[in-house]
Order: sequence, then structure tokens, then C-alpha cells
Amino acid sequence: MQTLLGIDLGTTGVKAALFAAEDGRVIADAFFEYPLFHPHPGWAEQNPADWWEATVAAIRLCLQQGTKQGATAEDVRGLGISGQMHGVVLLDANQQVLRPCIIWADQRSDEQCRWITEKVGASKLIEYVSNPALTGFSAPKLLWVRDNEPEIFARAQTMLLPKDYIRYRLTGVLAMEISDAAGTCLLDVKHGSWSQEVLAALELDPGLLPPVVPADAASGSITQEVATLTGLHAGTPVAGGGADNACGAVGNGVVEPGLVLVSVGTSGIVLAHADSPQVDTSGPVPRVHTFNHAVPHAWYLMGVTQGAGLSLRWLRDNIGLPERALERWTGIDSYETLSKEAEGVPAGSEGLIFLPYLQGERTPHLDAYARGGWIGLTASHDRRHLVRSVLEGVAFSLKDCYGIIREQGLQLNQVRATGGGARSPLWRQIIADVLEVELVVTNSAEGPAFGAALLAGVAGGVYNSVQEACAQTVRVTQRTEPNSQLAPAYQQAYAVYQALYPALKPIISRPLS
Ligand code: XUL
Repeated sequence: MQTLLGIDLGTTGVKAALFAAEDGRVIADAFFEYPLFHPHPGWAEQNPADWWEATVAAIRLCLQQGTKQGATAEDVRGLGISGQMHGVVLLDANQQVLRPCIIWADQRSDEQCRWITEKVGASKLIEYVSNPALTGFSAPKLLWVRDNEPEIFARAQTMLLPKDYIRYRLTGVLAMEISDAAGTCLLDVKHGSWSQEVLAALELDPGLLPPVVPADAASGSITQEVATLTGLHAGTPVAGGGADNACGAVGNGVVEPGLVLVSVGTSGIVLAHADSPQVDTSGPVPRVHTFNHAVPHAWYLMGVTQGAGLSLRWLRDNIGLPERALERWTGIDSYETLSKEAEGVPAGSEGLIFLPYLQGERTPHLDAYARGGWIGLTASHDRRHLVRSVLEGVAFSLKDCYGIIREQGLQLNQVRATGGGARSPLWRQIIADVLEVELVVTNSAEGPAFGAALLAGVAGGVYNSVQEACAQTVRVTQRTEPNSQLAPAYQQAYAVYQALYPALKPIISRPLS
């Protein structure tokens, strides 16, 4: 049997999953969590050492389980890594990590964004890297370290992204894979190479950046030391892999024009495949990103809402729900309980609107300081309304993303839903109803890990192309039709939702303190 191993280095934890190359079925998987630190409001950091420890544990367990199913490490034709985007990992001359990784969700670098825009010039920046400077991206985070921790910056020899750090630990190779490099704000997205113009304007040493490597070719192979640690075979090829959203797209077959991915993970995204690196020109600043796809010579447009699953998780954890603490003893699933409660509330949550800006917002507001909240509370609302309004607020934010992407004139023929949140039938239905489109689900339960494994399959010679890999393994399994009867209620609630941010901006968008 030929198998492929996919790793997805997420925000809450890392997943390792083993797939049969023939049809993509899952043979084994393992997930290990790691902590996320918020040392100040708006900051978000993780320790690369925690990622690595969890990755080793996940690979080991996954391979052990695979062996029980008759799939051994010898059968693994390749390994692919997917990961959370934009995080800055700095290494010294001995490849030691210099400080915790400042991850994608971190909002501290607004001042650096303004500086980048001024130094390069707003329109030149779009010309060079196809995207504006946003706190979510890597370059502003790197410059924050230069401005605030000069002694650390002075020792930095290499900048890596989260999953590329894992590649380094697996293979000893320092490289940045193209779909992830696109999110640094330093890559010439049109040509797939580092933008010398931007590096020069920002007075950054190009030597800090490792070579850019393709997603679907081998970038190195498993070292003997890692083989001993994990149970993998030394020499197993490791593919370039991809950014989690690019890999999520591959894992769901979103590798050709007309296909769109809606993902509800910690963040929420709407991603549309594009044949050319076209940029959102519908506003003064592009409100959706233009990034290189993990498919060669392809790009995607992507709108991002910072707090999707994060909002529901925050609610679960902070509104005094007893289920989480009791989960272990009672076997009650807290998300399922929440979902049942929300189901009983009519569409529109009886006038209660949730703004999901718990971590600032990207699309459409591009506002690192935006804050979230509920508006419209009355004494007749209860916990069920809080839950439903969170699900709806995230769906409204995804509608903002979808609307801007639609304005770009791309064909949008089919929307595929993925991510932990989209596994909830209720949330999926709400998103379909709010977007007023059919959502389909594929057999790809493992999303980005599956996409990474398919890229490894191309790198390992199992498939001839990413498209061929998807055609062989990805199938639509379920459809969620929008309920047109609910459209008026949602349209009304969405109109209020859209009016709230501009009206409240002076109050809810304040610098972090
Ligand atoms: C995308 C982004 C997030 C992370 C989450 O630009 O920042 O979706 O990739 O892992």
C-alpha cells in the first residue's frame, strides 16, 4: 500500500494524518494541542519548541496507529506540511530560536504597517507584493522586533514561517514554501520571488530570507535523527507543503477556476481560485489578499475574518457554561449543547447582533484595533441567543468576504465548506442561508493535512499534478441548500450588522493598551 503523511500545524494544535494514496481515505490520525500566549491585549505568541514536541508526538502516534492498520513507515511515499500563516520565527547563527513566534493573530505592529506603507509607497507596495501592509502579515512583525528588541534582531540570521520551521527540524533544510511566503508582504506574488524593491526600501538584509521553494516538489528528506524520534524512515521526501488555507483548498479540490473554499477554523476565510494574480480594486486598499496557491502558476483571492471558531470557543470558555468542566465526566459535548440551544432561536437572533472582532478584523475593515461585542440585547434574550448570534455574526463576516470576492468578477461556481466550524450542520446551514449559496462538503475531513499529503504525493511521484491528485481522491459528499424563506430575516440582520462597524468605529476601534 502507498501512503502519504500530512501534518497541519494549526493555532490550537498539530494534526498528523496518514492517508491511502489510492483514494485518500484516512488510515490514522493524531492531534496534540499546545498553548497560545496573549502577553498583552492584541498580542499572540507561541513557542516553536512546543510545536516541535507536539509534531513529533503526533507523527509517532499516527504511525503507531497506522501500523496497527497494516500501513507501516516503509509505505509512506512522502510527507507534506501545512501550517498557520504569517508567524515570524527568528533563528540565530546556530539555528536556535531567538524569541517566541509572533503569530498571525497578533495585532501589535500597526505602527510598522504605517511605516512600511510610507517607505515603499501605498501603490508601489501593491505593485511589488500585491498586498497592503497588514498587522496579520509577517513583515510588520519582523520590523516590530527590529524596533523594539534590537538586540534580538541583531542576532537574527534567518526568518522562517511556522511550518517552515518544522521543515527545518524534520530535514535540516532552511526554506520558505511559496504559498506561505506570499503572506510575508515581502514576496513578489506575481513572479514568486523575494521583492528586492521592498527589501531595499525597508532596509532588510535579503540574507534573512531563505530560498523560496515550490509546494508540490520535495524540499528535503527526513533525517536519521528525526527517523529515530518519530518512527519515520530516514530519507522520506518532505514536500514544500503549503499555507494552511492553500492546503485546505487543495484538500477540498479547490484547484481550478470557479471553485471557492469557505473555512471556519480559528479564523474564517473565503478563498477563490484564480488563474492570475489579480488584486482587489473595489476600494482604496485591497480588502482581500492575493496570494500564490499551492498549485503551480495559480493564485487565490482570500478574505479573512480574524475570529470565527475563536469567537465560539471564547463564548464556550467564558460565559460560565458548565459543560466544558463536566465534559470529561458526563460525556456531554459542549459545542453540541451550544448548537442545540442555538437551533431553537429564530434566524436573526431576535434582533441580537454579534460583531466577531475579538482579535481586530481584516476583511473588510482592515482594522487591527476593532473590538467585538453584542448590540441589541434585551431582557428577553438568553444564552441561546448569545450562541446563535455568534454563529450568525461570523456568517455575516464571511458574507463581507464573499461579497468583495464576487465583485472581482471571478467565476464562483461552487462553494466548498471546511474547518471545524463547518462540521456543525447548524453553522453550515446558517452560512449557506446568509451567503444565499449552496455549500458542499467533500470527503476531506482532514482539510489542510490532506492537502499537504496530496502535495507530498505529487512530490513523491505518486500523482503527476495537484489537479490529478484531487481528481483521484476528492469527492463531494454532502450538500447544504440555502433556505430561501429565511433570506429576508438574514438580509435585514446583515444590513444592521454592516451599519454597526462604521457607526461604532470611534468607540470600538481604539489603540491597544
Ligand atoms: C490567513 C490567516 C489565518 C491563518 C490561520 O491570512 O492569517 O487564516 O493562516 O491559521
